[in-house]
Amino acid sequence: MRARRKKHLDERADNIRDIIVVQKTSEHLGLPECERYDVKTPFNLFSNDNPVELEIGCGKGRFIIEKAKANKNVNYLGVEIQLNVLITCAEKVREEGLENVKLFNCGAEILKYELPEKSIDKLYLNFSCPYPKKQYANHRLTYYSFLEIYKYLLKDGAEIHFKTDNDDFFEFSENSFIENGFEIVYKTRDLHAENPIDNVMTEYEQKFSSLGKNINKLIAKVKL
Ligand SMILES: C[S@@+](CC[C@H](N)C(=O)[O-])C[C@H]1O[C@@H](n2cnc3c(N)ncnc32)[C@H](O)[C@@H]1O
Repeated sequence: MRARRKKHLDERADNIRDIIVVQKTSEHLGLPECERYDVKTPFNLFSNDNPVELEIGCGKGRFIIEKAKANKNVNYLGVEIQLNVLITCAEKVREEGLENVKLFNCGAEILKYELPEKSIDKLYLNFSCPYPKKQYANHRLTYYSFLEIYKYLLKDGAEIHFKTDNDDFFEFSENSFIENGFEIVYKTRDLHAENPIDNVMTEYEQKFSSLGKNINKLIAKVKL
């Protein structure tokens, strides 16, 4: 469900143009292919050569902000299609004074035109929308067309960390990774039972685990 448009949203977004550095709608994909490219190198974005980790569907940013605070020598890129929620993330990044976070307000569909090939060291998909109806399967962020974009963006050997509370979506995603040239290097159907010390909880993860729901996680890598 779409969040309600926040008050003075565009004005607030104008005040954080240095953090939300891309703002594009899906209409961008209506342009001829050669006019879609607007590639920013990680060096352009962060003015350093540190590794870059990407979270797609970062929501209000709890996860990416915790990661960025704990790992100042890693750059974090958050992508979120809804400005209404991304604005909260951007304002927290400003409050915390985090120089190692930049945000894109666009759909994952557009990333191929915004970032260079083999530029990403790790990708996080946290509680992506499951789109349970079959006719919307192509919107799932683990659908094969998205996996092709990730293959283009990820460096050789880079990992995708995928977490979800939705068991059917987890099974769909595991099969999608395997059928599209990835290997699964880690998998659990109950992440919290394993008590992983390095797990950073997202907003949705907190909500679902507090309701007693098991959290599924897998790590996938492109087969070389
Ligand atoms: C269920 S929320 C999870 C938010 C956060 N990752 C968490 O775990 O708390 C999924 C988020 O993905 C965003 N999203 C859905 N499809 C997207 C797409 N194609 N590109 C970028 N973001 C997308 C939604 O707007 C939503 O904020």
